[in-house]
Amino acid sequence: MSLPEVQLKAGILGATGTVGQRFISLLSKHPYFTIHVVGASLRSAGQEYAKATRWKMTTPIPAEVGNMLVQECKPELFRECDVIFSGLDSDVAGEIETSFLKADLVVFSNAKNHRRDPVVPLIVPTVNPSHFDLIPHQRSLHSLHKGFIVTNANCSTTGLVVVLKPLQDAFGPIEAVIVQTMQAISGAGYPGVASLDIYDNVVPFISGEEEKMEYETLKILGDVNETATGFNILSFTKVSASCNRVPVIDGHTECVSIKFKNQPPPSVEQIIHALDSYVSESQQIGCHSAPEKAIIISRDQDRPQPRLDRDNGDGYSVTVGRVRKCNVFDVKFTLLVHNTILGAAGSGILNAEIALAKGLLKVGS
Ligand SMILES: NC(=O)c1ccc[n+]([C@@H]2O[C@H](COP(=O)([O-])OP(=O)(O)OC[C@H]3O[C@@H](n4cnc5c(N)ncnc54)[C@H](OP(=O)(O)O)[C@@H]3O)[C@@H](O)[C@H]2O)c1
Repeated sequence: MSLPEVQLKAGILGATGTVGQRFISLLSKHPYFTIHVVGASLRSAGQEYAKATRWKMTTPIPAEVGNMLVQECKPELFRECDVIFSGLDSDVAGEIETSFLKADLVVFSNAKNHRRDPVVPLIVPTVNPSHFDLIPHQRSLHSLHKGFIVTNANCSTTGLVVVLKPLQDAFGPIEAVIVQTMQAISGAGYPGVASLDIYDNVVPFISGEEEKMEYETLKILGDVNETATGFNILSFTKVSASCNRVPVIDGHTECVSIKFKNQPPPSVEQIIHALDSYVSESQQIGCHSAPEKAIIISRDQDRPQPRLDRDNGDGYSVTVGRVRKCNVFDVKFTLLVHNTILGAAGSGILNAEIALAKGLLKVGS
């Protein structure tokens, strides 16, 4: 599969939010996607981007975006775009993204709204790009010429499946997964969690998060059915998640214990080898944003740590440490994923690069 040399016009929905800002910062240096339109709510529409947003990235607002006028999220204002990246609030993402799909636009969504749709691929780019195989069916179902919608996963699910995928491939079905998360505050958007709730504190509840991890993992790690008209969602694997918000700005940490169906289980060294040698399809294709390593193994006893490891692979790698035997299940480890890069905007961009390589983006047509 070769990567075409093209320039595509990108639109960003929810451009003023946490995920939208990450899209802007990642796309400003991107070789194929040029930011063409930025959209947000009526509160922001009509203002210059730099005035409408509360910019929280550590790099400045790209000059070419700062003075763009923010648009309302209406498909007719984005019709010149070859690709739409959505960082919309889930209260509005469902309806708005559907209107963009109906207008035959290509949408890469970060919101939860379409993730359970039986004809919408839920793709983590370093895990299951094969789920793009369903796009021709989705297009024919909605009578679309070039448009489609793909979602990426919830941010904590993303880190988990990147690590489970090579283990499932190498050692067979995983019977049970228990995961406890320590999730960064940027995962709640802006302004997100009140400082009085999170400073000097841990909040042991994130609305809807555990249900998302327990469902999305099974859809992502399943496969596309034989007729490429639906997904075989894993029925054998059980996932139990406990999600916590902690006073970290970026980077979700997860403590995971797993039990394999096949016994005796692999050794700790076999597991480390399977993770360390994992090469995802996005890396094989040579996608621009694909990390050199999808999984980085840390052998230090006190890693991964969010402040030190979240930017590994420019935020596209998952870092795994403390791989060891579990006295109850088979093995346990700690992983770290950058929640707004691989866990959100980065996944959308890398998914678009994969779609381009697979010939699914009809440029300028
Ligand atoms: N943060 C993460 O780590 C993360 C990770 C994975 C997935 N997600 C998902 O990504 C989405 C965005 O999250 P976020 O953290 O970036 O949220 P956020 O900071 O609250 O940003 C929400 C964006 O949606 C826009 N918006 C709100 N109401 C709108 C309306 N009626 N019409 C058009 N635009 C509207 C906002 O525009 P205004 O500024 O004009 O209000 C803003 O640009 C959510 O669905 C979230 O669940 C987030």
